[in-house]
Amino acid sequence: MSHSRKILIASDHAGFELKEKLEAQLAALGYSVEDLGPNDERSVDYADFAHALAERVSSGESERGVLLCGTGLGMSYTANRYPHVRAAVAWAPEIAALAREHNDANVLVLPARFVGEVEGKAILQAWLDTPFAGGRHARRVEKIERSQNSTEEHR
Ligand code: RB5
Repeated sequence: MSHSRKILIASDHAGFELKEKLEAQLAALGYSVEDLGPNDERSVDYADFAHALAERVSSGESERGVLLCGTGLGMSYTANRYPHVRAAVAWAPEIAALAREHNDANVLVLPARFVGEVEGKAILQAWLDTPFAGGRHARRVEKIERSQNSTEEHR
């Protein structure tokens, strides 16, 4: 199993049901999925799960991850605090594809209270299937982690 076929997944209680379905989809596609929880729908704090997943993507131990919460917002706020993590909230397959193509999103975040199973699976599939376009987008992605404003160079 290559590094890129490994994927982490986690949610809070709001994302639990869809997480289970997406996990089955990933396994059926041949991915090695590691579920970081939770294991049931009891109320939990989304940040605990986002930290656990983002730490491992940030360190390079895992290349990709999927997070789910009610809106996708709390998970994305938390995950995007980590260096090298680009967590994209996607509510349609087109957004997921653009998040890969333009932003090289290495974490997909789903707003589980606003997408159903069919849409959620299509969003995940688009994110898995779309490569990063590179080129001018690589330059832009590199700038995400720069603290200095460098707009002068490309006016
Ligand atoms: C949980 O009720 C909800 O706040 C959470 O799933 C998420 O939407 C937070 O951003």
